[in-house]
Amino acid sequence: MDAQLSTLLFEQRRFPPPPEFAASANAGEALYRSAERDHEAFWAEQARALHWIRPWDRVLEWNPPHAKWFVGGKLNVSANCLDRHLDGPLRNKAALIWEGEPGDRRVLTYWDLAREVRKAANALKRLGVGKGDRVAIYMPLVPEAAIAMLACARIGAVHSVIFGGFSAESVRDRVNDAEAKVLITADAGYRRGQVLPLKRMADAAMAGTPSIRHCVVVRRRPGGEGDEAFAQMTEGRDHWWHRLLDAESAECEPTPVDAEDLLFILYTSGTTGKPKGIVHTTGGYLTQVAATTRYVFDLKPEDVFWCTADIGWVTGHSYVVYGPLANGATVLIYEGAPDWPERDRFWSLVERHGVTVLYTAPTAIRAFMKWGTEHPGRHDLSSLRLLGSVGEPINPEAWIWYHTHIGGGRCPIVDTWWQTETGGIMITPLPGVTTTKPGSATTPFPGITAELVDTAGTVITKGGGFLTLPEPWPGMLRTIYRDDQRYRDTYWSRFPGRYFAGDGAKLDEDGYWWILGRVDDVLNVAGHRIGTMEVESALVEHSSVAEAAVVGRAHELKGQALAAFVTLKDGQHPTSELKDDLKAHVTQKIGAIARPDDIFFSADLPKTRSGKIMRRLLKDIAEGRALGDTTTLADPNVVSRLKEMYEEKEG
Ligand code: WT7
Repeated sequence: MDAQLSTLLFEQRRFPPPPEFAASANAGEALYRSAERDHEAFWAEQARALHWIRPWDRVLEWNPPHAKWFVGGKLNVSANCLDRHLDGPLRNKAALIWEGEPGDRRVLTYWDLAREVRKAANALKRLGVGKGDRVAIYMPLVPEAAIAMLACARIGAVHSVIFGGFSAESVRDRVNDAEAKVLITADAGYRRGQVLPLKRMADAAMAGTPSIRHCVVVRRRPGGEGDEAFAQMTEGRDHWWHRLLDAESAECEPTPVDAEDLLFILYTSGTTGKPKGIVHTTGGYLTQVAATTRYVFDLKPEDVFWCTADIGWVTGHSYVVYGPLANGATVLIYEGAPDWPERDRFWSLVERHGVTVLYTAPTAIRAFMKWGTEHPGRHDLSSLRLLGSVGEPINPEAWIWYHTHIGGGRCPIVDTWWQTETGGIMITPLPGVTTTKPGSATTPFPGITAELVDTAGTVITKGGGFLTLPEPWPGMLRTIYRDDQRYRDTYWSRFPGRYFAGDGAKLDEDGYWWILGRVDDVLNVAGHRIGTMEVESALVEHSSVAEAAVVGRAHELKGQALAAFVTLKDGQHPTSELKDDLKAHVTQKIGAIARPDDIFFSADLPKTRSGKIMRRLLKDIAEGRALGDTTTLADPNVVSRLKEMYEEKEG
């Protein structure tokens, strides 16, 4: 961390907002000043930009650690994202421009999208889904994924989107935790030319999900209906999406929803083996994502906004679906991989669709850097006017490359810090206002307070420490689904009275934030959050494994890579076949995103005398560093043996 800190603080380059950009930017200095006077009044003003069926009585009710925003207000998220745009010039504007990985394309106007959402909402009602019921969505990145989310919102049902890369077991556990009634999936999805058999995975999951009454299947493969290899339909339970929707009317009144009713649950990794169901409600969430979209991405009527995240992650919820559509924006969605069929796919998409604002992750940017400038160089990227970054710290080198080779030196970059739990962007530059420094997320969004504290919880104004949020904000998680104690313990107990995000950070002399990354047992692998405990539990479920410890090691492209240290049961032999088998086992248990990069077999794991695995030491070993202090170890030899093995492997 220290080396990383000093590299960052050595970063002296400054990028003031280009004057032409500032002249027409949605945000000005005044936004900070008005928010400073009164945070609640600021957020109330942002909320007034939405359509409310009933106005709120109180802006905020704060009984730490529980907040209620816009108490007494009623609204409908889908009406805000669709219906209110249909009476004016947005009616025939493209809402979603979609490109599938094989190259198939579709455009849905706001009118089209509203009709599809209403039909889907009617279909869900017909399947018995009512207000407050949970619907699981396990889909590739196709327009129907967004339609399904908005259809739930329309009838006050709660969606739980499960990333299409998760395994059947992960789907099963999430569906069961939420007791979802309906699962919406697709026959298949495309990734790097491969056909992912999503319905088959869903079937495997549904073998253990007693709450599921119906499964709705989107036909992704051309002519796929009836192709039993991809979608075997269980009579009475399974229904083709297109057939259901064909039978429904395009009229469906939006259900009035309380500001504090649940909009969605989204599962994310924590420091235990069990993912947490992060609960987001309606009014405050939509207020924050709509306002941040407007000011951080500076969206104008003619923009084409492309947030490259999958809707399985919070970034996709907030900045593919809800924030942009609430603002009447045109959103590009692309189903597949950036290097398919060639390494210029993103740039051909930007050129073909005239993308103006691009929001992506540092891990992608580092891959582009490695692939070389010839790929973006082959395309006209002059439509771009603003770039964004999210998901992990962006190293200054990647920032500068992005600025130079993608942004042509003219586009401001917004490095946005936030989390699944925060719902929307929290720390970010405002383009046209903030002077940026490569590698810094700069300062909190207006109406947001962030404070750095030391280990004792004392607020500090410079140097390194922990990033905390001392005040409630509209998009904050309300609890962990059906586990409020875990909510209190996880976020509010380390520093009483403060939300602790799990990130280490540094404040510089200008009050700019430099996020250093997670300080808990959560890893950030290629922008995806993975709990070390989840991977460990998956490993020990393998019949050969006695014990496992998983740590993150620095990785050039992914930020962090997973290194697993494994001890085997008696009679088991450490072979390379077993390594492959263990990697496949984790993929099957959790999904490919959790597949360990390295597996080290070891006779023992280094433990303190109280039996705690010393992850710091394992990280040192995985990163090939000199040994740390081993004096507290129960058996110091364990570490030196491991280190020798590691060096053998490297050499
Ligand atoms: C963690 C949250 C919500 C974004 C998608 C990931 C890291 C996120 C940044 C940034 C440095 C960042 C943090 C955070 N992170 N954005 N701009 N700079 N780190 O959401 O899966 O909930 O992960 O991502 O470590 O805690 P998530």
